[in-house]
Amino acid sequence: MSESKTHMIGLLEGIASTRAIRRFTDEPVSDEDLAQILFLATRAPSGSNRQPWRFIVLRDDERSLQAKQLLGEMARRMWEFKRRGDRYDEGSGQRKDSPKSRLARSMDHFAAHFEEAPVVILPCFLPYRESNPMDGASIYPCCQNLLLAARGLGLGGVMTGFQAGVDQELKALLGIPESVVLSACIPLGHPQGSHGPVRRRPLSEFVFEGGWDQTPTWAVDPTGTRHTRAGPPGHRTVIDPK
Ligand SMILES: Cc1cc2nc3c(=O)[nH]c(=O)nc-3n(C[C@H](O)[C@H](O)[C@H](O)COP(=O)(O)O)c2cc1C
Repeated sequence: MSESKTHMIGLLEGIASTRAIRRFTDEPVSDEDLAQILFLATRAPSGSNRQPWRFIVLRDDERSLQAKQLLGEMARRMWEFKRRGDRYDEGSGQRKDSPKSRLARSMDHFAAHFEEAPVVILPCFLPYRESNPMDGASIYPCCQNLLLAARGLGLGGVMTGFQAGVDQELKALLGIPESVVLSACIPLGHPQGSHGPVRRRPLSEFVFEGGWDQTPTWAVDPTGTRHTRAGPPGHRTVIDPK
C-alpha cells in the first residue's frame, strides 16, 4: 500500500466525509490505485465468507467505451425521468442556490458527461442459492468499502443503478454469464470539487432504544453537525408499501 496516501485521513473522518462524487477531472486513475481500491473493497464481509462478488472495470478499450456509452444513455434516460417526476424545476428548484437546484445541476452534468468518467466499475453478484433478502448484504458492503477506499486515496465516485436498464446488453457485450447479477454501476475518478462532511437527518430521528419510536437521550449528533432536509421528515413517517 502507498503509505503516504493511506495515512492522510483517519477511518472515522473518512466515513463521515465520503460524498457522492459526480464530477471528475481528466486525470486517469492509476493501476496502483485501482488495485488498492479493489483490494480494500474485497476486504468486506459476506455470508459464510463466500465472497460472491466480481468487479468489471471499464476504462478505455473498445468494449469498455461501448459499455460506458450504454450506461451513459441509460443515465440520461433515468435522470430525465426523475427530473420530471420529482419536479426538480418547481418549488425551491426555481432558486438557483437551493440544494434542489444544485443537485439538479450536478445531475445534469453527470448524465451529460457520464462516459468521461475515467473508470466505471460494475460490481457483480454471483448467486449461490435461491434469491434471499440478505443477498444484498453480500455485495453492497464491498461497494461502500470501494467508495471509502477511493476517498482515502483522494479519489471519489458514486453508487448508481444505471446498469439496471441495460443489463442484458451489457451481458452480451462483456460476456457476462446469464446467472450473474449486475448489482451496481460506480463511476470513479479524481474529484472536481471535494469531499466533505455528508449531511443527514438528525440522529434522534433514526435511533430508538428498547422499542419503536423511543428516542434515547444519548442519540445526538456531534457538536456542529449540519443536517439535510432531504428524506421523509421525522421518524414517525412509516412508508406504506401499498
Ligand atoms: C442504492 C443507491 C442507489 C443510488 N442510485 C443513484 C443513481 O442512480 N444515480 C445517482 O446519481 N446517484 C445514486 N445514488 C447516490 C445517492 O444519491 C447518494 O448516495 C445520496 O444522495 C447521498 O449523497 P451524499 O453522500 O453525497 O450526501 C444511489 C445511492 C444508493 C445507496
